[in-house]
Amino acid sequence: MKNRGLNTTIVLEKENPQINNPNKYNGEALDHPLISAPNTITKKLYLESYGCQMNFSDSEIVASILNEQGFITTKNFQESDLILLNTCSIREKAEITVRTRLKSFNKLKRKNPKLIIGLLGCMAERMKETLLEEEKLVDLVVGPDAYRDLPNLIQEVEGGQKSVNVLLSREETYADISPVRLDSNGVSGFISIMRGCDNMCSFCVVPFTRGRERSRSPLTIIAEAKELYKNGYKEVTLLGQNVDSYRWNINKKGTVIDPNIPTTNFAQLLAMVAQVGNDMRIRFSTSHPKDMTDEVIHTMNKYENICNYVHLPVQSGSSKILKKMNRGYTKEWYLDRIKSIRNIIPDCAISTDIITGFCDESEEDFNETLNLMKEVKFDFAYMFFYSERPKTLAERKYEDNVPEDTKRARLQKVIDLQRKHATESNEACIGKTVKVLIESTSKKSNLDFSGRNDENCKVVFPKENAVKGTFVNVLIEKCTSATLIGKIV
Ligand code: 5AD
Ligand code: SF4
Repeated sequence: MKNRGLNTTIVLEKENPQINNPNKYNGEALDHPLISAPNTITKKLYLESYGCQMNFSDSEIVASILNEQGFITTKNFQESDLILLNTCSIREKAEITVRTRLKSFNKLKRKNPKLIIGLLGCMAERMKETLLEEEKLVDLVVGPDAYRDLPNLIQEVEGGQKSVNVLLSREETYADISPVRLDSNGVSGFISIMRGCDNMCSFCVVPFTRGRERSRSPLTIIAEAKELYKNGYKEVTLLGQNVDSYRWNINKKGTVIDPNIPTTNFAQLLAMVAQVGNDMRIRFSTSHPKDMTDEVIHTMNKYENICNYVHLPVQSGSSKILKKMNRGYTKEWYLDRIKSIRNIIPDCAISTDIITGFCDESEEDFNETLNLMKEVKFDFAYMFFYSERPKTLAERKYEDNVPEDTKRARLQKVIDLQRKHATESNEACIGKTVKVLIESTSKKSNLDFSGRNDENCKVVFPKENAVKGTFVNVLIEKCTSATLIGKIV
């Protein structure tokens, strides 16, 4: 779930989210009716998304809400009536990129004074006053829980006002909104199963920008998975900041809320989604080491179509730093989770997130991170140096006292070591045959397809007569640290 900037186009003819009776699941009425077909199309929306996969998923909700109001998306911002940036605050760099982008979009206003520029997502929560009032870079600021209000807010802007809604909600999950699949390859789709985060890791801005954790009704999740399956999708990824704390009809203390409704935990939800279609792969992200249960791992093992892949962010290999980060586990606990995964699913791929240079991280603490990496040998890792974020516990209580060049030098060491491990793990695949879901034409050659194996590793191979969206067996002949290369057998 990493940073990338992307624009999006919708092909309206393709969207028919209403399959059978969309407002019922297994005969039961959904909480709200699903939003359906668009009105007459009049205006053009250019939507750019940054940050984690949750944000990209949110953009699909936004497109759906605005689609109802007659907006279609365009890839060409020059011709748009409305430019929306769905933003990320997780590191300072992400915010700087968006600010630069906003300045360049503002130049378009000289030619087209009616153009509306809006800021969505995490930066909206954080920077409403600065961007709207002081710098006058945007007309519209909408936080992650206020997208239903977009049509009203846009109307206010059209009437000559600036508009803001950054209220966070304890309930909003957009459960009833059928997302417009943006930039989709038609093969793999994402389903948000929960929003927000209650974990309060001391370095992280997410609990402040995305609010309290809340889970979405399992009925609507299954309905969305079925819709994807019927539309030919072959892979769904269930998304949440901490999927292991997904719970429906159970409160935080574990008490049942309504005895007349079944309770659902994450393992049970996984099993339900896996049964939607046994030729549809299931992935999920992100798992939290403090909450990941053996029940989840056993469920992964039980269903052939749940991929053997877990993203389990460790952040640091030092228990002292983990405590300071308020992660809720020690190095030993983390290694025990890895042991459980490998005992139950020996060939399970594991990826992680690592931060270097967090407050008070000594050379010794950092070496513990390198040692943990050597012990686990992650298949993949997202690696960052620590970036202090406003409002977080670390910003309020700790000194950001590791010099920037040390943070960067440590990060480079982590990257080098990870590259070595990834290459070793990929080299071990040479000579093996792996099952690949074909996702798209390779970026490097029109003659090749690109897809992923069960363990989430990218595989590239000559197209021959294969078809996108099908599974093929590929014999691996060579590799890089990031890609397996082979031929269909
Ligand atoms: N600085 C650097 N990295 C961060 N992350 C979250 N907050 C920060 C920060 N302040 C990283 C963590 C998290 C991932 C999504 O981003 O590793 O798991
Ligand atoms: Fe941030 Fe921690 Fe929540 Fe992840 S689990 S979103 S790192 S607070």
